[in-house]
Amino acid sequence: MATGLMRRAIARVPALSPAARAVTYREHASEAKSSATPKTFQIYRWNPDSPQKPELQSYEIDLKECGPMVLDALIKIKNEVDPTLTFRRSCREGICGSCAMNIDGRNGLACLTKIASGGVATMITPLPHMFVIKDLVVDMTNFYNQYKSIEPWLKRKSPPENPGKENLQSKEDRKKLDGMYECILCACCSTSCPSYWWNPESYLGPAALLHANRWIMDSRDEYTKERLDAINDEFKLYRCHTILNCAKACPKGLNPGMQIQNIKRLERTS
Ligand code: SF4
Ligand code: SF4
Ligand code: FES
Repeated sequence: MATGLMRRAIARVPALSPAARAVTYREHASEAKSSATPKTFQIYRWNPDSPQKPELQSYEIDLKECGPMVLDALIKIKNEVDPTLTFRRSCREGICGSCAMNIDGRNGLACLTKIASGGVATMITPLPHMFVIKDLVVDMTNFYNQYKSIEPWLKRKSPPENPGKENLQSKEDRKKLDGMYECILCACCSTSCPSYWWNPESYLGPAALLHANRWIMDSRDEYTKERLDAINDEFKLYRCHTILNCAKACPKGLNPGMQIQNIKRLERTS
């Protein structure tokens, strides 16, 4: 990419003959090569079709020829070095949540995580305590089922005031959903939560509980009591011990632990 930019820049200099331009380009290209910034990525590899155990595979790329984010490096490795490397990604903008993985010991989105400078290798592994399908791709079935179990849609008992129109809410009521509606279901929080590690089937985890609170707090929803009753359970809700790993892990800056506290408060007072 850098040499491509260089080629365009040199082509705009009018005083150079084509031969001189070629020489100048070659000089710049070799300069760029000699000032390469190598970086090693150690990436978790496992193929279900191979008898080999999981292992960390090292790849070295030149950061001068790569975008700034960890996802840029993964895409470069896949496109130019090893097409068998498998990972999820879609939006490249921190919107879809699909590139969640563990980078140097922290859960995060590869597309929002800058490649660390310096000579130390960057280690990339799948989201912790999840079943691996292949390489960095984990099985999200349980996570999505838990999300589905909190019935993440508007539920009404009374007919709409204006049939065929939206259910309106005040600006103040809408504001109560801030800090929750932004969740992109990446699972960085749930897979960083020790309680979720030990009870992934029975504890709903921070992401699903954040969404439960999102609908409990929605002024338009008329099933608040039923929603609270459904999760008022020793395992589904009360496995949260307010360790707050979830808030540290969230790449969108949300605080699921605080939303869980709100549910517990409502359970006590409703
Ligand atoms: S606050 Fe609750 S949900 Fe968040 S990491 Fe701690 S135990 Fe898990
Ligand atoms: S709360 Fe944050 S970390 Fe958890 S799923 Fe939503 S966006 Fe991801
Ligand atoms: S690719 Fe969509 S959040 Fe990273």
